[in-house]
Amino acid sequence: MTRIESLGYPITIDHDTARALAKFLRERGTARTIVLCDRNVAERAHAIAKTIGRNTTVLTFALGERRKTIRTVERVYAELAAAGADRTTTLVGVGGGVAGDLFGFVAATYMRGVPFVNVATSLVAMVDASIGGKTGVDLPAGKNLAGAFRDPLAVFCDIDSLETLPEKQLREGLGEVVKHGIIEGDDVFASLEVLAPHPLRKWPWETVVADSLRIKAMVVGDDKFEAGAREVLNLGHTFGHAIEKVTNYAVSHGDAVSMGLRAAGLLALRTGRFSGDEHLRVLALLALLRLPLVSPTTDHDALLAAMTSDKKTRAGQLRFVLPRTIGDVEFGVAVPLKTVRSVLARVNASPGAAELR
Ligand SMILES: NC(=O)c1ccc[n+]([C@@H]2O[C@H](COP(=O)([O-])OP(=O)(O)OC[C@H]3O[C@@H](n4cnc5c(N)ncnc54)[C@H](O)[C@@H]3O)[C@@H](O)[C@H]2O)c1
Ligand SMILES: [Zn+2]
Repeated sequence: MTRIESLGYPITIDHDTARALAKFLRERGTARTIVLCDRNVAERAHAIAKTIGRNTTVLTFALGERRKTIRTVERVYAELAAAGADRTTTLVGVGGGVAGDLFGFVAATYMRGVPFVNVATSLVAMVDASIGGKTGVDLPAGKNLAGAFRDPLAVFCDIDSLETLPEKQLREGLGEVVKHGIIEGDDVFASLEVLAPHPLRKWPWETVVADSLRIKAMVVGDDKFEAGAREVLNLGHTFGHAIEKVTNYAVSHGDAVSMGLRAAGLLALRTGRFSGDEHLRVLALLALLRLPLVSPTTDHDALLAAMTSDKKTRAGQLRFVLPRTIGDVEFGVAVPLKTVRSVLARVNASPGAAELR
């Protein structure tokens, strides 16, 4: 078991977190618990509810990104009201990033806010979504447009859950794990290089999750409301979000982040920040993890437009988060349009001899 306390609420990473969660609720004197879960982890949620014991109800919802909407939020509100939930009820959300964002938003708003505990069951939720206090849902106008900043009472990363997580979803989280490795530097990055050739199912996930999460916790702890330093977490994401948008989400977030990490490396290389050796090290790791490096879209104007309208750009100026070395990432770097265009073209081709030119 690993505990991370630096954020002001405890994060527990363990193979089976049910007992630690039950103990946490008991020690807080929680009288009533409602477990809200994603249908795909209902079995796990019921096992957790059983360990918590009496006065525990499980409510199950069909989720997925397409259902991360206000309509689903309304459904959850309705079921909570029907179950007689009030301000003294603690909500426990069980599931991936969609569950955490949506149930977290419900908890932030139902009766103006009720206590919330997050049990993360996907790699994305464990290393990224469950911490940082961002909750919310998508609107027709865009992803994550309605929400609230609200920290949970506690987070539990339920490592054994990863056994039922489809490999595709496991890979979704790896882009963020590599990103955190580039932010932190040599120790974590090098340990990923050692693990990369081994089958994902054999990885020591408790350690991998703890290392990765610690990095996000450190950054978020320094900059809770995104005034600045937290921007390093957008490494690979300016381009990544653009590619998701331009391909109408045919490219998944994890894949887009991988392509975005390559683009950021190239931008850093071509503005004299990053060494060719380190750029190739990042590409080799992404390739070993079977994350894609080649962007399928040649509509560079659309990508540029998407990057300019990304909520993270300031005053229409294209700014990027770029690595100086593995372990040193800077944000807010303005890059000439010509350089950005040359990189967009390069990312359409496989890395080869031209990569470092
Ligand atoms: N709040 C934040 O800071 C933050 C950060 C990153 C991502 N996110 C959000 O997270 C979401 C993506 O997270 P995700 O990839 O976990 O998506 P998800 O919650 O939809 O989970 C992916 C799929 O795996 C299933 N699943 C989850 N855990 C499982 C398990 N243990 N066994 C079997 N199936 C399981 C889910 O039902 C779903 O079908 C996006 O909506 C994104 O916006 C939020
Ligand atoms: Zn991301």
